[in-house]
Amino acid sequence: MATNDQSNSGQVPQPRRSTLSAEYQRDWTEYYSAVAGKPPRDTLLKAADLFDQGQNQNQDQNQSPGGAATASRHAIDIGCGVGRDSHELLRRGWRVWATDFNDDSQRHTIGAAPPGTSGRLTYVASAMEELPANPQLPRVADLINASFALPFCNPEKFADLWRWIERTVRPGGRFAGQFFGDRDEWACIRPKSHFTRAQVEELFHGWAFEHFEEVEKEGDDAMGNTKYHHVFHIVARRDTGAEHA
Ligand SMILES: C[S@@+](CC[C@H](N)C(=O)[O-])C[C@H]1O[C@@H](n2cnc3c(N)ncnc32)[C@H](O)[C@@H]1O
Repeated sequence: MATNDQSNSGQVPQPRRSTLSAEYQRDWTEYYSAVAGKPPRDTLLKAADLFDQGQNQNQDQNQSPGGAATASRHAIDIGCGVGRDSHELLRRGWRVWATDFNDDSQRHTIGAAPPGTSGRLTYVASAMEELPANPQLPRVADLINASFALPFCNPEKFADLWRWIERTVRPGGRFAGQFFGDRDEWACIRPKSHFTRAQVEELFHGWAFEHFEEVEKEGDDAMGNTKYHHVFHIVARRDTGAEHA
C-alpha cells in the first residue's frame, strides 16, 4: 500500500519554527539581546523570598537561623545567561557562583553585576555537564538555580548532573528552575530532554515542592516566535534528612 510519509521516514519531525539546532542549542548571543533588561525569573524570586521569610521567622522567634544569614548564603546559578537571576541574588546579599559555557554570558554577567557586588560573584566558565568535577564551585550550596537551563544538558550526562545537584544543595536548601514537558513543541528535536509530569515528580524524590506549576500553552518564545510550551516551574526544598556530601 502506498504511504505518504516518505519525507519523514527515519527522521525526527521538526517543530513549526525551530530556533533550535539538531544539537538542541540555539544562537545564545541573539537570545541574550532579546532578553536584555528582563527581570529575574519568578522561580528565583520565590526561592529567594522563601529564604528571607525563613530568616525573618527565625529572627522573630529569637532563634538562630535554620539556614545561613543572608551575607553567607551561597548560590550556584547554572546556565546563568546574562545573569538576571545572579544579579538579583547579589542585590540581596548572596555569594554567587554564576556559570555558563557561553563567552557572551560571562561578559554580561560580570559587566552588568550590581555596583559593589563583584567581591561576592565568581563566574565559572563551564559546560554544565562538567560542573560535578569543577573545583571552582563550593561543595555545599543553599540554592542551586537553573532557570530554563537544565533542558540543554546532554541527556546522557543529566543523571550525573542531577546527582551532583542533590549532593550539593544542603538539607533544607533549595532548587529553583524549569523542566520542559513531554508535550512541548521542542520535544521532537530531543525527546530525552523533555519530562512527563510523573518523571519530574520522581526526580524530586527527597525534596518537597514549594512551588510546582505546570504551564501548557501556545505562546511567544524569547524571540517573539509562536511556540507550543509545556513547562514545569519548580521551587523545591531538599529534605532535611536527605543524602548530603
Ligand atoms: C534559555 S537560556 C537561560 C538563561 C538564564 N538562566 C535565563 O533564565 O535567562 C539557557 C542558557 O544555558 C546555557 N547553556 C546551554 N547549554 C549549556 C551547557 N551544555 N552547559 C552550560 N550552559 C549551557 C546557554 O548558554 C544559555 O545561557
